Amino acid sequence: MCGITGYIGSKKTYEVLLDGLRRLEYRGYDSSGIAVQVGNSIKFLKRKGKIIELEKSPEIKNMVGTMGISHTRWATHGIPNEINAHPHLDCKKEIALVHNGIIENYHQLKEKLVREGHKFISATDTEVVAHLIEKYYKKNNFESAVVRAIEDIHGSFALAIIHKDSEKLIAARRGSPLIIGVGRNENFIGSDVPAILKFTKKVIYLNDDEIAILSPNNIIVKNLQGKIIRPKVNEIKWSLDQIEKGGFKHFMLKEIFEQPQAISNALSARIINNKIKLDLKINPKNLQRIFLVACGTAWHAGLVGKYIIEKLTRKSVEVDIASEFRYRNPIIGKGDLLIAVSQSGETADTLESIKLAKHQGAKTLGIVNAVGSSIAREVDEVIYLQAGPEIGVASTKAFTCQVICLLLFALYMGEKGGNKIEKIVIKDLQALPKLIKKILSKSKDIQKIAKKYVNAQSSLYLGRGINFPIALEGALKLKEISYIHAEGYPAGEMKHGPIALVDEKLPVIFIANDDHTLEKIISNMEEIKARQGKIITVTNVAAEKIKKVSDDIIGVPKTSEIISALINVVPLQILAYYVADLRGIDMDKPRNLAKSVTVE
Ligand code: G6P
Repeated sequence: MCGITGYIGSKKTYEVLLDGLRRLEYRGYDSSGIAVQVGNSIKFLKRKGKIIELEKSPEIKNMVGTMGISHTRWATHGIPNEINAHPHLDCKKEIALVHNGIIENYHQLKEKLVREGHKFISATDTEVVAHLIEKYYKKNNFESAVVRAIEDIHGSFALAIIHKDSEKLIAARRGSPLIIGVGRNENFIGSDVPAILKFTKKVIYLNDDEIAILSPNNIIVKNLQGKIIRPKVNEIKWSLDQIEKGGFKHFMLKEIFEQPQAISNALSARIINNKIKLDLKINPKNLQRIFLVACGTAWHAGLVGKYIIEKLTRKSVEVDIASEFRYRNPIIGKGDLLIAVSQSGETADTLESIKLAKHQGAKTLGIVNAVGSSIAREVDEVIYLQAGPEIGVASTKAFTCQVICLLLFALYMGEKGGNKIEKIVIKDLQALPKLIKKILSKSKDIQKIAKKYVNAQSSLYLGRGINFPIALEGALKLKEISYIHAEGYPAGEMKHGPIALVDEKLPVIFIANDDHTLEKIISNMEEIKARQGKIITVTNVAAEKIKKVSDDIIGVPKTSEIISALINVVPLQILAYYVADLRGIDMDKPRNLAKSVTVE
């Protein structure tokens, strides 16, 4: 949510900053801006809309100088317009800053600052920080003015700040992600690794309540008490081509097609001689209950995880949406395990749920993609997805790899708990990348089906058992990128409401697997057909009864029931992608969404 970049060095500042912003655009894209120190003044430029608007402005070429900051916004306070776009400045336009997060006490701070004579121009929470620094600034005390301002703030922030007279660029963080890229005779600030990967693979992950003071040849990290901290410099393993489209029209399509490789990577070195190798200390014998906590697509992965973990370990699993979990006074404590599932490792509600569980004595495990992210650092133990960077806002390969990691966890815990692993499951798991490739090779057939439903206004996704969360995920994919209303339901619940929506215009997407619920699903399909609904069936069964009632069939390969979810989700991702593409939507940046939700 909001992307920040900062640069100090001798390259063309605006070029470095724009490159970083473009790579962070998935974090927000309603307006953007840039500020640079030129001589002894601050120059800034802001534009409403996507980053291209900033790039197109002729004034951008004046944004040279040796240090600068930039921002791509996802609005929280104040509508998306040029005034509310970052950077924000103080009254004298001597201080400029960009911010990701929410200043919760900005009303009180603003009232006080206004009384003291400060002039505000925007409706944002961020602007108070610029005025606070101005208030505390006395000749050459830029760093201590920043610290004093931060002490007044409640809420979350990642900040990058410049002053017209300072040779230093300052970054600060509390609760929102921020990294420092370590270069040679130049240094960088970014919300996330893609912002700096083109220039350096060495990063420092700032901790909460730390500030970094950057010059071209030096980075000093301090806590708010002024104590110097020796930060760890981490080496990033991602390559630049992993964060580029590589010939695909969109990141989402690239990431859908990357799934066989991503799954192989997630499995890599974790299955040896039919045994699961995970370096975990958790012992199922000491474990009472498991809580899976996540948001969005990761929550759907958690729902699939419940099904798998309960089946393989016979432990009871509760699945919660993080924003609900943390406010419902959950009964969790010693002997319990909270598993946080997150692609970005930065989702605010998921992160806070972990802190709550830890506080109450539970153990915590993260299933996370982004190495070094806040969640990965907060949990007791972590299983990394190893899926590589996911840029498309609609999550695809992270979902399948989250389910893979939950499955590996369940197999591992099941085995440790004395349950025998069925060899066929391991075999099917290892065959999965090949099976997904088969589905991908039929993507043009799915595109043809997408053409038929491109003008639908609403749709229903139905599945049972492990495929109920897949129905939810299919529906989420369609609605978030095509703006067609879509609902996922357990097929057995259909008669308790959703059936009222059925008419000849409603596409109903069924997931019909060769398992003990098949006959029931076929009856549900008959009921939809009897009401003239249009049926698209994702199935691994070649049954005449299914053909008869389906308007369109997407055939998928057979596999073990607990792995079927991973197969069935892929055609639904492809279907959603093509519907959105045919509707002319840039599904890498869907309306109002952001990839990483770092505010509540
Ligand atoms: C946002 C993204 C989703 C993602 C969710 C949770 O809504 O658009 O794709 O599933 O956040 O994010 P996380 O990074 O915690 O998996």
